[in-house]
Amino acid sequence: MMMRRGVTKAVRSVLGHAGSRGFSTGAVATEQATARIFRANSGRVSEAWIRFPVIGVRNFSTVTLDAKTEKKAETGSVGGAAGGGRDKEIVSYWGVSPAKVTKEDGGEWRWSCFRPWETYKSNLSIDLKKHHAPVTFLDKVAYWTVKSLRYPTDLFFQRRYGCRAMMLETVAAVPGMVGGMLLHCKSLRQFEHSGGWIKVLLEEAENERMHLMTFMEVAKPRWYERALVFTVQGVFFNAYFMAYVISPKLAHRVVGYLEEEAIHSYTEFLKELDKGNIENVPAPAIAIDYWQLPQDATLRDVVMVVRADEAHHRDVNHFASDIHYQGHELKKAPAPLGYH
Ligand SMILES: [Fe+2]
Ligand SMILES: [Fe+2]
Repeated sequence: MMMRRGVTKAVRSVLGHAGSRGFSTGAVATEQATARIFRANSGRVSEAWIRFPVIGVRNFSTVTLDAKTEKKAETGSVGGAAGGGRDKEIVSYWGVSPAKVTKEDGGEWRWSCFRPWETYKSNLSIDLKKHHAPVTFLDKVAYWTVKSLRYPTDLFFQRRYGCRAMMLETVAAVPGMVGGMLLHCKSLRQFEHSGGWIKVLLEEAENERMHLMTFMEVAKPRWYERALVFTVQGVFFNAYFMAYVISPKLAHRVVGYLEEEAIHSYTEFLKELDKGNIENVPAPAIAIDYWQLPQDATLRDVVMVVRADEAHHRDVNHFASDIHYQGHELKKAPAPLGYH
């Protein structure tokens, strides 16, 4: 420990006296350097160019720069969700900065976690009743696994559908990422194309995560719910990973049935909203922008589009499982990119 401190001290001393020639980067080459400051104010990200003297920068080397930058980054995040409140500044010396994004009407785009071209109008005409009848042994395993998971879920959440949606979306966003990651590794390992399926599965994961970002605006997780998510994620991630390695057709079938259950849950959610048991509050701003909803959209509109998303995930995953059942690999069938 003492030795390490001694070495660090010596390195700092050398860095401090060595001047800029040996240690500074090309980006810090003149007396006046230009840096970008990203200001995150109430979730809105703006950027400005500033000029400042670099005497200190030249002598302290990039090690010091990184430490300073990291310290700033630690104290604040330039996240996507509106909120936060404190002004935070992040200095970038690397020329890496997001281009200024505006909405179609020229107004400021307030989200950094997704961009206008990633938004869409949900296809609400999708058939919500479609169901894959379990015939084979593996189908029945998938079906009854999902059905048996429903009972403890119903018991835990009862009719708290807002909380239920938020919690279940933390699980729903896992399979796409795991499947996409495994297909990605397979593509690398076997020197072959993926047929677009990596992207499709990662799109699904991202879409599910946006469901979560939306519902957490409506239902705030309590500490024990966060603890539950932590535990469930640890178990579910590993279980799904193993299932996908052993049998992708089973894994996709399980997700297909999970999505069928999700459609059912959101239908119940809508019934509770219509009965007035759950207040039909205004839609969160993030949902209005992501699904291109009208400005006066409500929670009911959000549940409608989320349910339509789940129906699309159902189709994609049952389709993926069917491809495997027919003795093919996913790459043989054109991936349903942008299907939502
Ligand atoms: Fe979802
Ligand atoms: Fe889903």
